[in-house]
Amino acid sequence: MKRGIVAACAVAAALVAGCTAQDDGEVRIVFAAGNDPSGATAALVEEYNASHEGVTVSFQPMPVNTDTQHDAYVTYLSARDATIDLYSLDVIWTAEFARAGWIVPLPPGFLAADDFLDGPLGSVTYEGTVYAVPWFTDAGVLYYRRDLLEEAGVPVPETWDEIREAYEKIAAPRDMEGFVWQGARYEGLICDFLEFLWGLGGSIDGAVVAADPALAEREIAQAIELVLGFFDDGVSPESVLTYKEEGSLRLFTESHALFLRNWPYAWSMAEGEESKVKGLVGIAPLPHAAGETGYSTIGGWNVALSSHSTHPDEALEFLAFITSERALKLRAIEGAYLPTRKSTYEDPEVLAANPHFESFFEVFRYTRNRPRSPHYPQISDIIQVNVHEALSRQKSPEEAASAIVEDLAEFSFE
Ligand code: GLC
Repeated sequence: MKRGIVAACAVAAALVAGCTAQDDGEVRIVFAAGNDPSGATAALVEEYNASHEGVTVSFQPMPVNTDTQHDAYVTYLSARDATIDLYSLDVIWTAEFARAGWIVPLPPGFLAADDFLDGPLGSVTYEGTVYAVPWFTDAGVLYYRRDLLEEAGVPVPETWDEIREAYEKIAAPRDMEGFVWQGARYEGLICDFLEFLWGLGGSIDGAVVAADPALAEREIAQAIELVLGFFDDGVSPESVLTYKEEGSLRLFTESHALFLRNWPYAWSMAEGEESKVKGLVGIAPLPHAAGETGYSTIGGWNVALSSHSTHPDEALEFLAFITSERALKLRAIEGAYLPTRKSTYEDPEVLAANPHFESFFEVFRYTRNRPRSPHYPQISDIIQVNVHEALSRQKSPEEAASAIVEDLAEFSFE
């Protein structure tokens, strides 16, 4: 009953006043984060509540899509809504949320920086101040059908040419798709597109855009052409332009695709009971052009305290718990979420449940960030719109590239 009331309050912001006005002495904390199908987060919240008299935390699962979460949070926070105390934030939002004053700096010493991996740690600060605790980390990974490659005697592809050859030899004759990824017009497209661009030796770098816009344009146009070439040759179906993480993953777990680009959590789905490819999957670093290096986009999520929380002390206590070693361990074991604490990678139980974590170390050797700026949403939007239009052939690669470079010139970013 108690939980039911809290959940209803969390969803209907209009009822907030009524909810907080309950006078039973119970402190209610709402933690909003992307849905966790493994159930680990819900179990942790339950465990916490059972051992914390007078405090009830409720987990408000959000749609996993990062843009949907972003827009919902911006709506809550700009209305100074106090419903949600703790937010799980995509690594790309820290600067924007901190600058807007929506999240508060964490008390000095709250974050034991030495315990965390450098990549995720780099995403929780804005102008030298710590605003969040790293929760789980992400990096783009190539999933492949180990069984089919082995059967055909084809080595795991390292270059895009090898991906194309494997597609022609193995996937095309079986009427399977070759390489599927996330090409819908949303944040995921930025992650995947940057990986294509980096794998060609290019970048979208604030300094380059400012100093040599012609070079930036050329590199972006080349990356668009590379992908159009995949469509022309059938290596990637044009339907990827509608896929987000789940859509592309489903194709792979239904055994309709030879290669998939996705995040580490996809492993637990590919190996899940429902998957038709359970036991048949391998993981490798992302492919690249011959003579270049493949880089994975760094993703991941942090936890931050809302500046509108009416119970910041209790909220911080839960923040410490949900980002503790124990919580990261359970989420790693149950949901294959990659921990942000170094020690978790040495935990035998974590490694026993995730023998593939070892393969991720190789992937994590070459990772890069998306542009960093408090104006990230605008930057992302400019790239999304133009790249998607070019890939759906509404604009030429050159037109899209010059529009991106011209529009990005308005913003400063790293
Ligand atoms: C994953 C990543 C996140 C990224 C998103 C794009 O959730 O962790 O950083 O923005 O995918 O779809």
